[in-house]
Amino acid sequence: MEAKMMYETIFARSFSRYEQKKLGYGAFAVCLVITFTTFTVFKPYLGPLPVLNLRLSTGGFKMLMVEDTTSTQQIVAEIGRKGMEALVCNIMDPRSEFCEISGDVRVHGNSSTVLIASSAPVDILPENSSWSIRPYARKGDATAMKHIKKFTVKMTTGRQHLPHCTQNHTVPAILFSLGGYSGNYFHAFSDVLIPLYLTSRQFNGEVQFLVTSKSLWWIEKFRILLQELSRYPIIDIDREEGINCFSSAIIGLKCHKELDIDPSKSPYSMIDFREFLRSSYSLKRATAIKVRDGTDTKKPRLLIIARKKSRSFTNEGQIAEMARSLGYEVIVAEPNGTAISRFAELVNSCDVLMGVHGAGLTNIVFLPENAVLIQVVPLGGLEWVARYDFGEPAVDMKIRYIEYKIKEEESSLIEEYPHEHAVLRDPHSITKLGWLELKAVYLDKQNVKLDLNRFRNTLLQALQLLH
Ligand SMILES: *[C@@H]1O[C@H](CO)[C@@H](O)[C@H](O)[C@H]1NC(C)=O
Ligand SMILES: *[C@@H]1O[C@H](CO)[C@@H](O)[C@H](O)[C@H]1NC(C)=O
Ligand SMILES: *[C@@H]1O[C@H](CO)[C@@H](O)[C@H](O)[C@H]1NC(C)=O
Ligand SMILES: *[C@@H]1O[C@H](CO)[C@@H](O)[C@H](O)[C@H]1NC(C)=O
Repeated sequence: MEAKMMYETIFARSFSRYEQKKLGYGAFAVCLVITFTTFTVFKPYLGPLPVLNLRLSTGGFKMLMVEDTTSTQQIVAEIGRKGMEALVCNIMDPRSEFCEISGDVRVHGNSSTVLIASSAPVDILPENSSWSIRPYARKGDATAMKHIKKFTVKMTTGRQHLPHCTQNHTVPAILFSLGGYSGNYFHAFSDVLIPLYLTSRQFNGEVQFLVTSKSLWWIEKFRILLQELSRYPIIDIDREEGINCFSSAIIGLKCHKELDIDPSKSPYSMIDFREFLRSSYSLKRATAIKVRDGTDTKKPRLLIIARKKSRSFTNEGQIAEMARSLGYEVIVAEPNGTAISRFAELVNSCDVLMGVHGAGLTNIVFLPENAVLIQVVPLGGLEWVARYDFGEPAVDMKIRYIEYKIKEEESSLIEEYPHEHAVLRDPHSITKLGWLELKAVYLDKQNVKLDLNRFRNTLLQALQLLH
């Protein structure tokens, strides 16, 4: 009883402290680890743990609490000495929720339940030892999360009440969703592939993927990457009526930021992820061309990412022609269909990639190091999102970043709206109405006609960066 009270006191206190902190998504994080005698099955990567707040012993159980001040979002409590099981549920991270479990884990797909048999005494468990996890890494986005199936992770005492295993697995499980926005190329990487890499790479292929909202075309499209990360056929967990048993599992995916990895929170970085892509797709070039004055026979290659439906360049031909006159070899291509490996090869063969803000820019993941991204930012107060989605990630990928913000005259919107209209004069008044309004005007209806004189300098600047 005493231990339980202490436990609750600690958590109550931590909550109120953390609730006071203003975090970007109005969220805060808690991790809870239970027991660790033979704590070798997995080690949650906690980064540096600078402050040791409390340590106490109660009746053979040890409880200690560590506060990770580097993230301001992580509280870790470890309890117990007797059992083998461990549970870390990070349910208040702003981007994703996940539980890392080791012990006797039983997954019942049909009822979306993950049961953990605990040998800890009942009174040391928190009041409600159950967590609801939506295993898709875009937690702050209500639209994306609305249809993500929830999984209940439940700690139970006493194995006798648990359902029998219909299949015993020898490798750990990772459960994740292919719902949400994963059909979009950018989100496929940002919400699923990078988080999946972060979560599964440590197992070196010896891991079983359990997928909810399985999408066959998605799995086919990214098959090469999925097979590199797991040697076992994917299990469609929604259709599993039996009980899949594991000795460890991760429910949900870890995630740090948009199209990016924070190396201070993980043993991996975007450099590692890009190396992983290069080796998976057998991409040849690790670094971009180094241009030397006059003597070069090889020209730097510029890839213009074309779009057809919206945000397209209406003077693509002239842009290409000017770029050629400046010494580039120019390729215009639109990422299409399912053949990722061919497009990855094409991107990897280039030194500069340019395009209007959009999912096609996700292809920078295949560029060689020191290559240049030119992001053309259309009207609509999109600078922040442009930088957050591609600008900052590019830098972490060791890609040089140039932003080209168009002027009003370069936007097709001047043909649609009178000069004094709010769409042109005051984008903020439109964007504050919400994402859908912003999208309807600035993303879905806008094309770009680059001012060649103005853009010339940007192309020269990119050349300079390749010197
Ligand atoms: C699976 O779940 C569905 C709906 O929740 C239920 O109707 C069905 O009986 C379940 N099947 C089994 C074998 O439990
Ligand atoms: C957690 O506790 C609440 C209230 O005490 C209860 O309604 C809920 O069902 C519990 N969750 C689970 C999964 O047992
Ligand atoms: C799974 O393992 C448990 C414990 O070792 C055993 O009792 C059970 O029969 C096994 N189930 C299957 C289907 O192999
Ligand atoms: C897709 O792109 C590739 C390479 O750019 C091209 O060869 C192919 O014809 C395109 N396919 C379609 C359906 O447009």
